[in-house]
Amino acid sequence: MKHLIKNGFAGFPYVDLVGGPTRLQRAENLEAMLRREGINAGIYLKRDDLMPLGEGGNKLRKLQYHLAAVLNNGQDTVITFGGVQSNHARLTAAACARLGLECHLVLSQQVDIRTDEFQSNGNPWLNRIYGASSHLLDRGTSPQAFAEILAERLSRQGKKIAVIPTGGSTPLGALGYAECAAEIAEQVKAAGLNVKNISMANGSSGTQAGLTAGWISQDKGSDIITGYAVMADQQDTLGTTTRLASQTLEFIGRGHLTDALSVNVDASQLGAAYGQPTPRMVEAVALLARSEGILLDPVYSGKAFAGLLEKLRSGMYGSGDDVIFLMTGGVPGLYAYQGALEESFLTQAVSPTGIQ
Ligand SMILES: Cc1ncc(COP(=O)(O)O)c(C=O)c1O
Repeated sequence: MKHLIKNGFAGFPYVDLVGGPTRLQRAENLEAMLRREGINAGIYLKRDDLMPLGEGGNKLRKLQYHLAAVLNNGQDTVITFGGVQSNHARLTAAACARLGLECHLVLSQQVDIRTDEFQSNGNPWLNRIYGASSHLLDRGTSPQAFAEILAERLSRQGKKIAVIPTGGSTPLGALGYAECAAEIAEQVKAAGLNVKNISMANGSSGTQAGLTAGWISQDKGSDIITGYAVMADQQDTLGTTTRLASQTLEFIGRGHLTDALSVNVDASQLGAAYGQPTPRMVEAVALLARSEGILLDPVYSGKAFAGLLEKLRSGMYGSGDDVIFLMTGGVPGLYAYQGALEESFLTQAVSPTGIQ
């Protein structure tokens, strides 16, 4: 199968998996609900959960650059990493299916939830449908060491191996979000918005780092971007994001990050640990589902949206201000959490002024 490789951000080769700009959608029902609480900001959703492949999501923007490099290098087999419920793994599986590449997923137990549905429904189920080979590691086995052995074995069979790091979060992958920054800037200009904040979840940091690099390379202040840490604590996430944003700027020949203060990371929504539900995440998922009919996910965007809601309720953004929430996908994860969350959702009552 022939695939068209085009020049993308800063002239780097990419293969189209996203299908053009995603929508910037106003959340009018949610705005109306929040107005009854005295919150008057404009709320916009950047719909990176709506893409024409693999259920969509932020990882496809990164994979556009990673997989163009794989095709250009003449490699035919991809190995990547993630947790059992990794969205990155599922989207890599889908993209490899589309591009005719063999896909191996090295999956580890990163979340202490052992229900059957967590182990096999949602993303791992879709991985199987997309035809990827999943290698589920016991706790304590190093994914990197396992991948090296696997790569050696596959090479001996004559396969040409490419290894994509966790979350695709390298300067090459981050280009996908540097490009998205330009897309958002254009949409904001066309709609005449007064954007005071762009919020998103931060896991392996490539999304926030790429967006930050893209924003800075347009000579805009990146302090309006807030990443909600859902995987590691504030200090670690800030360190990783700042480093990767700086490396991405260097990668595209735009210098490096000179001011660490231009990266905002908020870890207030992390809860007990990565992948562990929080009551505020449940409220956020229910609120957006019941006001707009749009799903967040329980691990990433649900926690990040809870953070944005908290900032809106604190009065940080007022009348005439607009905020953008980056919808990064991950909805298959909801199917893995039914047992853990069913009761919490049932007890979320909807009142005329919203969810209580
Ligand atoms: C649905 C979803 N949202 C957000 C993120 C966070 O993106 P990043 O790893 O680039 O920080 C992920 C990462 O796995 C994800 O799957």
